[in-house]
Amino acid sequence: KQKLTRIQLDKMKADGQSAVWITAYDYWTASFAEEAGMDMILVGDSLGMCIYGYSGTVPVTMDQCIYHCEGVRRGAPNTFIIGDMPFLSYQVSVEEAVRNAGRFHKEAAVDAIKLEGGKRVCPQIRAIADGGMLVMGHIGLTPQSSGQQGGFKAQGRHAAAAKELIEDALAIEEAGAFALLVEAVPPEVCKIMRDRLTIPVYSIGAGVDADGQLMICSDVLGIFQAFTPKFVKKYENLGGKTVEAFKQYVADARSKAFPADEHTYKMVDGELAKLHE
Ligand code: KIV
Ligand code: NA
Repeated sequence: KQKLTRIQLDKMKADGQSAVWITAYDYWTASFAEEAGMDMILVGDSLGMCIYGYSGTVPVTMDQCIYHCEGVRRGAPNTFIIGDMPFLSYQVSVEEAVRNAGRFHKEAAVDAIKLEGGKRVCPQIRAIADGGMLVMGHIGLTPQSSGQQGGFKAQGRHAAAAKELIEDALAIEEAGAFALLVEAVPPEVCKIMRDRLTIPVYSIGAGVDADGQLMICSDVLGIFQAFTPKFVKKYENLGGKTVEAFKQYVADARSKAFPADEHTYKMVDGELAKLHE
């Protein structure tokens, strides 16, 4: 498998071919994603909820993101990987934003970074792009500012708000982003962005009229149980299956059905008799 490039992602948009991607936070999920042929992997700061059990993404640190990106990179060496910039790694100043974006590249060999926000983060997007890095924008529902948004809620459902989002999208492209992710926005609004922007516009919960789709791995697999956004389609119930497997192991070990002969090591021929001498 060959890792995609920005040029190929642009061509996929031009050809109307969907780029399909998923989040991953660890080595093994990343290796399964690569084996399944995912076009890209996002190491989302959703790891705060999915891995660390926080109620949101705000507590997530740069170090946590970098460590998880390292594992994902080793699991998916031939997949385009996007590192997600955590809260306070780019909001304070343009300089901090560039330095932290650079850390993802130097320490975890990501292919691109993503950050949340519209016009208000365009100076950061411009500076990171000027630093030679690929930056993806992220608008609509933006969990790092969910307090301002009044919770994890769909965005752009009124014309005025939708128009603002479209202006944000255009500004992000103008600032030098290579792609844009749109989260929890009505499909009609996402379609306008997809049609008006030359860079790829990807959807998570923004309908089918996008240049590709993103889903969160723990949602797809049915692992994350705390809540399920409307836009999630569960393809598996690994949470339930995991509990079943663990219960079976507990029962087997208690009843001594496990370990069986086949799970044990034999002594070297002739040594057993000597042991009892
Ligand atoms: O952190 C993440 O996984 C994300 C997606 C939910 C868009 O940013
Ligand atoms: Na995120």
